[in-house]
Amino acid sequence: MRCAQGHAHDVARQGYLNLLPGGARAGTADTAAMVDARARFLATGRYAPLTEALAAAVPAGAGAVVDVGAGTGHHTARVLEAVGGTGVALDLSKHAARRAARAHPRLASVVADAWAPLPLADGTARAVLTVFAPRAAEEAARVLAPGGRLVVAVPTGRHLRALVDGLGLVTVDPRKQERLEARLAGWTRVQDVLVERPLALTADEVALIVAMGPSSRHAPAAPTGPATTALSVRVSTWAPPG
Ligand SMILES: C[S@@+](CC[C@H](N)C(=O)[O-])C[C@H]1O[C@@H](n2cnc3c(N)ncnc32)[C@H](O)[C@@H]1O
Repeated sequence: MRCAQGHAHDVARQGYLNLLPGGARAGTADTAAMVDARARFLATGRYAPLTEALAAAVPAGAGAVVDVGAGTGHHTARVLEAVGGTGVALDLSKHAARRAARAHPRLASVVADAWAPLPLADGTARAVLTVFAPRAAEEAARVLAPGGRLVVAVPTGRHLRALVDGLGLVTVDPRKQERLEARLAGWTRVQDVLVERPLALTADEVALIVAMGPSSRHAPAAPTGPATTALSVRVSTWAPPG
């Protein structure tokens, strides 16, 4: 792959393009074990209502569906299947990018940092998705095509609450939605959907949720049992300023 200034980057054997500068730190990137657990949990279909809400939020029109912090590309692939067209899955984790490269034939997978300029030309995206992932608003505004939308999924305080309380998991910042709204000052909210469902989870599913989340970075997972909790995510859709 070669850019207009002549910089060349190899496409990895596993099918993703790595645009991180040499020596970049993994930082907040998901580890191989986290990505593996996420892939297995999402394959259960427990988060399907969230995927459907994301697909419903993508506007018709030209341009790619860009998923920032796409993880395994699970949601991105299903959104593309529903809305058509092409997509770009961007993630800081090469383990995630390897999965995303295989997630859908019309999905390109790129390793890049969401806090750096996005590797996309101005006005080329019909939607920028960010699902439990970094929310780089200025760059989203730049890459959105006319009529394009930023689609943000943020967990509410009720998301997986019984597990958070019962297992002492890392909690959702209760001001996450508030901080999102401050970051998107000047944007227009065009839709706000609360995706909320009870979740009756098996012990294996509980273990996968623990292993795919940030708590797994700090402590080895203790044995878990089945649990009843909730999927509770706010999907908001935004039009850029101007
Ligand atoms: C909680 S996971 C969500 C993954 C996916 N959106 C989903 O819902 O299945 C957060 C993802 O953001 C990625 N990530 C963390 N920091 C990032 C950054 N600075 N730039 C790009 N991706 C990042 C992680 O590697 C991880 O895959």
